[in-house]
Amino acid sequence: MVQFASTTVALLCWAGYVLAACNYGTSYFPREPNVTVGSFGYTGLNGPLNWYGLNKTANKLCATGRHQSPININASIPTSSDGFVSFKIDSYPEGAVFENLGTTLEVPANGTLVTDSKTYGLTQFHFHTPSEHRIELEHFPMEAHFVFEADDKSVAVVAFVIDLGPADPWLTSVFTYVAGIKTPGQATLTGPLSFTNLEHHLKSNPIYRYSGSLTTPPCTEGVAWIISNKPLYIDAGTYNKVKNVLGFNARYTQNFPGGVNLLQNAADELK
Ligand SMILES: *[C@@H]1O[C@H](CO)[C@@H](O)[C@H](O)[C@H]1NC(C)=O
Ligand SMILES: *[C@@H]1O[C@H](CO)[C@@H](O)[C@H](O)[C@H]1NC(C)=O
Ligand SMILES: *[C@@H]1O[C@H](CO)[C@@H](O)[C@H](O)[C@H]1NC(C)=O
Ligand SMILES: *[C@@H]1O[C@H](CO)[C@@H](O)[C@H](O)[C@H]1NC(C)=O
Ligand SMILES: [Zn+2]
Repeated sequence: MVQFASTTVALLCWAGYVLAACNYGTSYFPREPNVTVGSFGYTGLNGPLNWYGLNKTANKLCATGRHQSPININASIPTSSDGFVSFKIDSYPEGAVFENLGTTLEVPANGTLVTDSKTYGLTQFHFHTPSEHRIELEHFPMEAHFVFEADDKSVAVVAFVIDLGPADPWLTSVFTYVAGIKTPGQATLTGPLSFTNLEHHLKSNPIYRYSGSLTTPPCTEGVAWIISNKPLYIDAGTYNKVKNVLGFNARYTQNFPGGVNLLQNAADELK
């Protein structure tokens, strides 16, 4: 999911490892402007098949757009590093704020993406279980989205699919206290975060690129997707902890870019 949650948080316990003082896992971080937790969802009439129905003006593209995400990535989506310059995420040696928004688990963070002669600033990164994108039809237990925005408001998302295996340490660290934020609106801290290995991972493996959309309402198009073709790894214990809190938050696979919107198609077929 890619969502424009507020990135400004009242950092009640930002100053390091004062977890006890923070009541981590139970503290509520007021947001400015406030985020409406759970205004859309992944089940029943709140789910992706009815996002258009939730607001026909705002969410029109969810049901009519022809460049929607996520997709199944096949050989028609080329891997290319052309124009890709750099991906840097600030490190948080004392942990970062980690929030349960109801629709995802999110870390507001800073960083920079330079690609196609454009500089984007990181707004946040967040997770999906299971993965939203598929690669050659295969789906994965999890996917991470790093959401970037440029000065002209254009959006780029760097995505990593995540498989089960010997864990990438930053993934273990992000989820250290995840069990404490089971209720939407709760926030905690991550463990210490450093992204050197992740930056290297993106740089040293082929990347898929295509123009798609936000995977959450309002499904805005023109999003530049940059997806590593090599999975990251998380251990089964951590994955189960995350799945227990996050539940299910993946939009169904959309039609290939340029093809008719699957909801539009269904509506037409039913007529
Ligand atoms: C945010 O929500 C709180 C509690 O509901 C309310 O007191 C506050 O005025 C809201 N702030 C904004 C900017 O809407
Ligand atoms: C639908 O979205 C529009 C913005 O596109 C907003 O002005 C309107 O209040 C929303 N309607 C509802 C019912 O939330
Ligand atoms: C990729 O998928 C699209 C949509 O199904 C299809 O049109 C295209 O031929 C596929 N490409 C390859 C190389 O299989
Ligand atoms: C991001 O950088 C801005 C500007 O330096 C700073 O005010 C903000 O606290 C930073 N946010 C995070 C989550 O590091
Ligand atoms: Zn996302």
